[in-house]
Amino acid sequence: MKARIRGRGPQGDDELTNRLLSYLKKYFPGNVREIIQLRPTVYYVRTSAGEFIIKGYSSFNRLILQENFTELLKTHGFRDTYSYLRPCRKEPFYANGLYFGFIEYIPPHFKQFTFQTESDRAEGLKVLKKFHHVTEKIAGAYNLSIPFANQIGKWEERFARFSANSHVISSILGAEIYDEILGWADWGLNGMKRREAIFSKGTQAILHGDVAHHNFLRSRNGRVNLIDFDLISIGPPVLDYLQYANRILPFMGWSFGALSECDGIKDFLNEVAFLHALVYPTDILREWNRILKGGSLLDGMKAEPVKEMTMHRYSARRKFIKSIQAMVK
Ligand SMILES: Nc1ncnc2c1ncn2[C@@H]1O[C@H](COP(=O)(O)OP(=O)(O)O)[C@@H](O)[C@H]1O
Ligand SMILES: [Mg+2]
Repeated sequence: MKARIRGRGPQGDDELTNRLLSYLKKYFPGNVREIIQLRPTVYYVRTSAGEFIIKGYSSFNRLILQENFTELLKTHGFRDTYSYLRPCRKEPFYANGLYFGFIEYIPPHFKQFTFQTESDRAEGLKVLKKFHHVTEKIAGAYNLSIPFANQIGKWEERFARFSANSHVISSILGAEIYDEILGWADWGLNGMKRREAIFSKGTQAILHGDVAHHNFLRSRNGRVNLIDFDLISIGPPVLDYLQYANRILPFMGWSFGALSECDGIKDFLNEVAFLHALVYPTDILREWNRILKGGSLLDGMKAEPVKEMTMHRYSARRKFIKSIQAMVK
């Protein structure tokens, strides 16, 4: 049977498809049945002998880093993720300027992991905790090969770009909303800067850096896996929990009460700096900056979903922020 290529086909590029097929033929048993592009650089591959994922990296070093890191996670006892298959060290699969890793496929459960349910949110936190438990032990080995997290620097830059585009954004959101959001960002960032030690000092671990729901994968056997280590950095675990809190809050109706019942997050709520960080509207700033990238003129088509995202549960968010500001005073 001839391989079926679905999705856009490997970047819509026949040459890449053909090279992939001949590489697979050389290094993998069985015939290729199907290739599906999942993301610009991620493909699902099914052969008569089994399934796997391939993912492209911009350099060979990055690929090796990912392979070694996931292997080290496993040898130190973190099993809730995939392994790389390493079909041939001497001849990595290289195409379209990318080095591809071959990754064990995790067959998904019919019930996808989601931040919408309390039990999944709790399960995600448990996996993250296990992850840090192991990465605290191995962070030292990576001091030279992965960057140190710089939360405040990253958010300062985000803030600067958002305020540089004040004219465009406030014409879409209205000056009042724009100013309010900028005020939250300013209040959050200033409080973080006054007590910055919590975001850089203390026990260092390898941070995941992208704890979005799509990087938690429930496998067919029901276990929740953590995947996609492209954004790892070194820093205190609190940064991953801050990001996790930011990600789940919209699904919890911005309830401070519900957040203070989350094991793994509740202890941080005693830290004033963490409360300031929760006020910083990182999601809103990120999305506006993303569509305004490159200084392009903003077309309404692009702005509409971002405006919608900004205003989604806006009054619940405002209430959440006001209650934090009252607490911190
Ligand atoms: N090993 C795997 N097994 C099953 N699905 C996977 C695997 N790796 C990736 N995926 C799927 O592909 C998506 C994108 O992969 P990911 O590595 O997170 O790429 P990106 O860096 O583009 O986010 C994941 O959200 C998941 O749905
Ligand atoms: Mg991902």
